[in-house]
Amino acid sequence: MNMLSTNPTPENNKSSFKTNVGFSRNDAKPEGLGQFVIAIFVICLIYPHTAMASGSIELSLPPPSLAKWYKPTNKRQVWLHTMFRLRRAMQAVRDYGAEGDHTAMNKWANKLVKDYRSLPEMVPEWRDDIDLRWADRLLQASKQNDIKKVNLALRKLNVSCKSCHKEHRAIVAATYRSPDYKKLLVPDSDKGKDIKFKQAMKNLSHTVNRIMIALQDDRRDVAHSSSQLLDTQLHDLGTVCKTCHKDPTSKTRILGKTTSPDMEKLWQSMKQTNTKDSQRQLGHLSVNICARCHGIHRTLAGLREMVLPDN
Ligand code: HEC
Ligand code: HEC
Ligand code: HEC
Repeated sequence: MNMLSTNPTPENNKSSFKTNVGFSRNDAKPEGLGQFVIAIFVICLIYPHTAMASGSIELSLPPPSLAKWYKPTNKRQVWLHTMFRLRRAMQAVRDYGAEGDHTAMNKWANKLVKDYRSLPEMVPEWRDDIDLRWADRLLQASKQNDIKKVNLALRKLNVSCKSCHKEHRAIVAATYRSPDYKKLLVPDSDKGKDIKFKQAMKNLSHTVNRIMIALQDDRRDVAHSSSQLLDTQLHDLGTVCKTCHKDPTSKTRILGKTTSPDMEKLWQSMKQTNTKDSQRQLGHLSVNICARCHGIHRTLAGLREMVLPDN
């Protein structure tokens, strides 16, 4: 088992066994939104779900066989879409049961169990996390139209959903569905070349601090020329948003109409040689542009780097 650990302990090294079950599906439907949004919550999920002992955190990396069910190995995010179907089917069984529609309940119970049984075929390493006994009982109870037993079986199955999620969900999302900035190049108009994303970030930080220092020491020329550079660097950064965002409004939310007034106000305050105001404006700009963008993108990038240090 892959482990990423600063302090490995043997009890988490679960053994895994192999089976050769030919299994493929191509009926996964896109679930619209969601995919990446879920990933954003990864960091919030990490802490309560990992074994913490004397200042170290231990994370189980996803088993190798899971890769087959995710891009780029697969054309689709098969595992994730199986999950969405499972949740939908659980709801349908519960709701039709409550409505007393036996036929519909039975149909969805079959769908649910079919998908549930596919989990250990897809990822044999997780076989122990699957409760096939309660899946069988669910089918039986549904056939017999025993709503009480159906609901009991649903609750029992849900225990297995939750326990697997607790251990694996966040890391899987970080591994297969988090954005990767390492391969991204950002134009550097000032130097007339392309630079790595991280370098672009370092440059931005350098420029912001250069303005701050110059303002504090009353070096207006430096503050002014550095502000021009900041404007250029932000414009350069804005050209890469479309690599991941097809919808141009994502860019304008952070680098657009709402934030360009920040830059404009910075210019104005500099012209009026109002140092306090310039400092305040630069502060606004850093919060509205840098901090807001970091809130969405950076935490996840950091987590991804932690989980996949070699990628
Ligand atoms: C796309 C939205 C975005 C914007 C806008 C943005 N950043 Fe970043 N920043 C990131 C991401 C993502 C990372 C993490 C990159 C990585 O680890 O590969 C990062 C990392 C950084 C780092 C750490 C670099 C390192 O060496 O690890 C610094 C410093 C930084 N940003 C400064 C800034 C400043 C200053 C601004 C505003 C002037 C800014 N950033 C605007 C997304 C953004
Ligand atoms: C053996 C492990 C395992 C079991 C059992 C399991 N899941 Fe999942 N589930 C995962 C992993 C891993 C993810 C994260 C997938 C991702 O983010 O790409 C996930 C994600 C999900 C998601 C999407 C995230 C969200 O909350 O929106 C849903 C919905 C879901 N599972 C439902 C279920 C249901 C319902 C069951 C039980 C019937 C279940 N899962 C059983 C491993 C499991
Ligand atoms: C490497 C991929 C990547 C790049 C490059 C990138 N983003 Fe994002 N961004 C994401 C992901 C993933 C999300 C979260 C899910 C979503 O909304 O698509 C996100 C979400 C957002 C959101 C919140 C959702 C929305 O659309 O309003 C904003 C705003 C945003 N990004 C702005 C930017 C800006 C501005 C840039 C360029 C400076 C940028 N992004 C560059 C991957 C990226």
